[in-house]
Amino acid sequence: MEQKRRDLLKTFTALAGGLMIPTGGQSQIVGQYKLPINNGDPVDLSKIINLFDFEKMAEGKMTKMAYEYVASGAADEFTVRWNRQAFDALKINPNVLNDVSKLDTTITLFGQKLAYPILIAPTAFHKIMHPEGELATAKGAGKAKAIYVVSSYTTTPLEEIKKVASESLWFQLYVRDDKEFTKNIVQKAEELGFRALCITVDTPVSGARNRQERVKFKLPDGLNAPYANGAFTQKMPLTWKEMEWLISFAKIPVLLKGILNPDDADKAIKIGASGIIVSNHSGRNLDTVPATIEALPRIVESVNKRIPILMDGGIRRGTDVLKAIALGANAVLVGKPVCFGLASAGAEGVTKTLEILRAEFEMAMALTGRATIASIDQSLIWK
Ligand SMILES: Cc1cc2nc3c(=O)[nH]c(=O)nc-3n(C[C@H](O)[C@H](O)[C@H](O)COP(=O)(O)O)c2cc1C
Repeated sequence: MEQKRRDLLKTFTALAGGLMIPTGGQSQIVGQYKLPINNGDPVDLSKIINLFDFEKMAEGKMTKMAYEYVASGAADEFTVRWNRQAFDALKINPNVLNDVSKLDTTITLFGQKLAYPILIAPTAFHKIMHPEGELATAKGAGKAKAIYVVSSYTTTPLEEIKKVASESLWFQLYVRDDKEFTKNIVQKAEELGFRALCITVDTPVSGARNRQERVKFKLPDGLNAPYANGAFTQKMPLTWKEMEWLISFAKIPVLLKGILNPDDADKAIKIGASGIIVSNHSGRNLDTVPATIEALPRIVESVNKRIPILMDGGIRRGTDVLKAIALGANAVLVGKPVCFGLASAGAEGVTKTLEILRAEFEMAMALTGRATIASIDQSLIWK
């Protein structure tokens, strides 16, 4: 069976006019691109103890171009580092002897019940990470009972993702000049049963992606992003006015993704946004903006419980999830770790990434004496 698979691969590689490269059967050169072919390969996930282990494993499996795309940030990557350092700098103030024999991690967001407050952040181009791409992500998310926010730069059509999803899907949108395109894609997502829209508002242009430039990042031949609609060349004329227009016809909750300024959070509420996502795009856009966990408290104050606040950026440990909720987030999203889980082991890697984070979060709840999400409050942060 294994021999047959190898023979097939050799034939495919020969047909593609490339060379087989010795990386333990994990990748191949097709034309000038090395594509991941780890789908189906036995991967020893017992060695994966935490989310950082997945990054190391993924680096060995991904093409350099794909790895640099996922791992890098903008310019000097200060914000990328701060996202982590700011979590590490927060100390926890635990309570003992509370009854934590039964933990309840469930939350309700926009009428939807979540098993635990961690979602998959929208990330682009999953087929450069794993041959099964977004389908593997959706399957992995389903198994882990997590909501998957599909990027508008998906390399798989939404209908196909929907078919394999067993949990709720949300859709992230980059709004373009073309209003008809925007309206159509929103309606398509709604008709397919996507449950919320995350409109990314922090990317009117791309950031100074130096590392991506160095590897001359582009989508390998044969892959495409069906809803990118000229995105790589166009600027985005998205303003509050267009946001109001979009919210006026959307039938599902609209969240603004990429808010860092408390004034913008207030404006978002005034134009009718259902929620916001505090995000700095994982430090990929504007370098030297603060860590999201640092920006969060001011936004929480400005929002004053009027709408749910989600946050992402640098969440790698269960204690990070706990800290974000203690400082006022209703839920968090994870981006890079899911990409690395996907690149390492497809759907199974995605599931394991979420399960590790969830298990660590539950440990952190029990070890701080918090049996419910509602009991995770500011007093948990050491002053
Ligand atoms: C490889 C990659 C691709 C991304 N693509 C998108 C995207 O298509 N749309 C979007 O709104 N955000 C995108 N983001 C940002 C994520 O949604 C999210 O804000 C961020 O990754 C969270 O930080 P973390 O990666 O540290 O968890 C991307 C991030 C990464 C790492």
